[in-house]
Amino acid sequence: MKKVLVIHGPNLNLLGKREPQIYGKTTLAQINRALENLAKKKKAKLTIRQSNLEGEIVSLIGESKNKYDGLLINPAGYTHTSVAIRDAILASGILTVEVHLSNIYSREEFRQKSLISPVAKGAVLGFGPGSYNLGLAALLDLID
Ligand code: DQA
Repeated sequence: MKKVLVIHGPNLNLLGKREPQIYGKTTLAQINRALENLAKKKKAKLTIRQSNLEGEIVSLIGESKNKYDGLLINPAGYTHTSVAIRDAILASGILTVEVHLSNIYSREEFRQKSLISPVAKGAVLGFGPGSYNLGLAALLDLID
Protein backbone atom coordinates (compact mmCIF):
# COMPACT_ATOMS: atom_id res chain seq x y z
CA MET A 1 0.00 0.00 0.00
CA LYS A 2 1.28 3.45 -0.96
CA LYS A 3 1.85 5.77 1.97
CA VAL A 4 1.43 9.52 1.60
CA LEU A 5 2.07 12.31 4.07
CA VAL A 6 -0.30 15.27 3.61
CA ILE A 7 0.72 18.58 5.19
CA HIS A 8 -1.51 21.62 5.42
CA GLY A 9 0.41 24.76 6.38
CA PRO A 10 -0.53 27.80 8.46
CA ASN A 11 -4.08 29.16 8.63
CA LEU A 12 -5.52 26.33 6.58
CA ASN A 13 -7.28 25.15 9.75
CA LEU A 14 -9.45 28.24 9.22
CA LEU A 15 -10.67 27.25 5.75
CA GLY A 16 -14.39 27.79 5.29
CA LYS A 17 -14.31 30.97 7.38
CA ARG A 18 -11.07 32.48 6.12
CA GLU A 19 -11.39 34.92 3.18
CA PRO A 20 -14.09 32.78 1.51
CA GLN A 21 -14.04 35.01 -1.58
CA ILE A 22 -10.51 33.67 -2.22
CA TYR A 23 -10.41 30.26 -0.59
CA GLY A 24 -14.07 29.23 -0.80
CA LYS A 25 -16.39 27.80 1.84
CA THR A 26 -15.06 24.26 1.95
CA THR A 27 -13.57 23.38 5.32
CA LEU A 28 -10.31 21.53 5.91
CA ALA A 29 -12.28 18.58 7.30
CA GLN A 30 -14.21 18.37 4.01
CA ILE A 31 -10.98 18.53 1.98
CA ASN A 32 -9.50 15.77 4.14
CA ARG A 33 -12.61 13.61 3.69
CA ALA A 34 -12.36 13.94 -0.10
CA LEU A 35 -8.67 13.02 0.06
CA GLU A 36 -9.43 9.98 2.22
CA ASN A 37 -12.12 8.84 -0.25
CA LEU A 38 -9.71 9.10 -3.16
CA ALA A 39 -6.97 7.34 -1.19
CA LYS A 40 -9.34 4.50 -0.37
CA LYS A 41 -10.21 4.02 -4.05
CA LYS A 42 -6.53 4.05 -5.00
CA LYS A 43 -5.51 1.81 -2.11
CA ALA A 44 -3.28 4.39 -0.48
CA LYS A 45 -2.82 5.26 3.18
CA LEU A 46 -2.76 8.93 4.18
CA THR A 47 -1.26 10.58 7.23
CA ILE A 48 -2.72 14.09 7.41
CA ARG A 49 -1.26 16.93 9.49
CA GLN A 50 -2.00 20.64 9.76
CA SER A 51 0.46 22.96 11.44
CA ASN A 52 0.86 26.68 11.90
CA LEU A 53 4.48 26.17 12.98
CA GLU A 54 7.30 26.20 10.45
CA GLY A 55 9.64 24.13 12.64
CA GLU A 56 6.99 21.47 13.14
CA ILE A 57 6.51 21.18 9.37
CA VAL A 58 10.30 20.97 8.90
CA SER A 59 10.47 18.14 11.47
CA LEU A 60 7.57 16.23 9.87
CA ILE A 61 9.29 16.36 6.48
CA GLY A 62 12.69 15.56 7.96
CA GLU A 63 11.29 12.41 9.55
CA SER A 64 9.38 11.39 6.41
CA LYS A 65 12.19 9.50 4.70
CA ASN A 66 11.58 5.73 4.63
CA LYS A 67 8.17 6.28 6.25
CA TYR A 68 6.25 7.60 3.23
CA ASP A 69 6.33 7.20 -0.54
CA GLY A 70 5.32 10.79 -1.19
CA LEU A 71 4.42 14.18 0.24
CA LEU A 72 1.39 16.30 -0.72
CA ILE A 73 1.87 19.77 0.73
CA ASN A 74 0.11 23.10 0.76
CA PRO A 75 2.80 25.19 2.47
CA ALA A 76 0.35 28.15 2.56
CA GLY A 77 2.12 31.38 3.65
CA TYR A 78 5.44 29.53 4.04
CA THR A 79 5.43 28.88 0.29
CA HIS A 80 6.84 32.32 -0.25
CA THR A 81 9.30 32.52 2.64
CA SER A 82 10.53 29.18 3.89
CA VAL A 83 14.04 28.18 2.95
CA ALA A 84 13.81 25.70 5.85
CA ILE A 85 10.83 23.79 4.37
CA ARG A 86 12.49 23.76 0.96
CA ASP A 87 15.70 22.42 2.53
CA ALA A 88 13.76 19.74 4.45
CA ILE A 89 12.23 18.48 1.18
CA LEU A 90 15.68 18.35 -0.41
CA ALA A 91 17.23 16.71 2.66
CA SER A 92 14.59 13.99 2.89
CA GLY A 93 14.52 13.42 -0.85
CA ILE A 94 10.79 12.73 -0.61
CA LEU A 95 8.73 12.86 -3.83
CA THR A 96 6.70 16.04 -3.41
CA VAL A 97 3.63 17.58 -5.02
CA GLU A 98 2.77 21.17 -4.05
CA VAL A 99 -0.83 22.33 -4.05
CA HIS A 100 -2.62 25.65 -3.64
CA LEU A 101 -6.30 26.48 -3.58
CA SER A 102 -5.75 29.81 -5.32
CA ASN A 103 -3.68 30.65 -8.36
CA ILE A 104 -0.74 32.31 -6.62
CA TYR A 105 0.49 33.74 -9.95
CA SER A 106 -2.66 35.82 -10.37
CA ARG A 107 -2.41 37.36 -6.90
CA GLU A 108 -0.19 39.88 -5.08
CA GLU A 109 3.40 40.08 -6.28
CA PHE A 110 4.80 38.65 -3.02
CA ARG A 111 2.79 35.45 -3.61
CA GLN A 112 4.06 35.00 -7.14
CA LYS A 113 7.24 33.29 -6.00
CA SER A 114 7.27 29.81 -4.54
CA LEU A 115 10.44 28.62 -2.83
CA ILE A 116 8.93 25.13 -2.87
CA SER A 117 8.07 24.64 -6.57
CA PRO A 118 11.70 24.20 -7.72
CA VAL A 119 12.14 21.24 -5.35
CA ALA A 120 8.70 19.69 -5.98
CA LYS A 121 8.04 17.23 -8.78
CA GLY A 122 5.06 19.35 -9.78
CA ALA A 123 2.41 21.76 -8.55
CA VAL A 124 -1.37 22.06 -8.85
CA LEU A 125 -2.94 25.44 -8.16
CA GLY A 126 -6.02 27.52 -8.74
CA PHE A 127 -8.68 24.79 -8.64
CA GLY A 128 -9.86 25.41 -5.08
CA PRO A 129 -10.27 22.19 -3.07
CA GLY A 130 -9.96 20.33 -6.40
CA SER A 131 -6.23 21.14 -6.39
CA TYR A 132 -5.77 18.66 -3.55
CA ASN A 133 -7.51 15.78 -5.32
CA LEU A 134 -5.69 16.45 -8.58
CA GLY A 135 -2.42 16.70 -6.67
CA LEU A 136 -3.00 13.44 -4.79
CA ALA A 137 -4.00 11.60 -7.99
CA ALA A 138 -0.84 12.87 -9.72
CA LEU A 139 1.35 11.93 -6.75
CA LEU A 140 -0.09 8.40 -6.58
CA ASP A 141 0.48 7.98 -10.33
CA LEU A 142 4.08 9.09 -9.88
CA ILE A 143 4.62 6.63 -7.04
CA ASP A 144 3.49 3.72 -9.27
C1 DQA B 1 -2.35 29.32 -0.41
C2 DQA B 1 -1.76 30.57 -1.08
C3 DQA B 1 -0.81 31.28 -0.14
O1 DQA B 1 -0.28 32.46 -0.76
C4 DQA B 1 -1.51 31.69 1.13
O2 DQA B 1 -0.60 32.28 2.03
C5 DQA B 1 -2.26 30.58 1.77
C6 DQA B 1 -2.99 29.64 0.93
C7 DQA B 1 -3.43 28.64 -1.28
O3 DQA B 1 -3.72 27.48 -1.03
O4 DQA B 1 -3.98 29.27 -2.20
O5 DQA B 1 -2.34 30.49 2.98
O6 DQA B 1 -1.30 28.38 -0.22
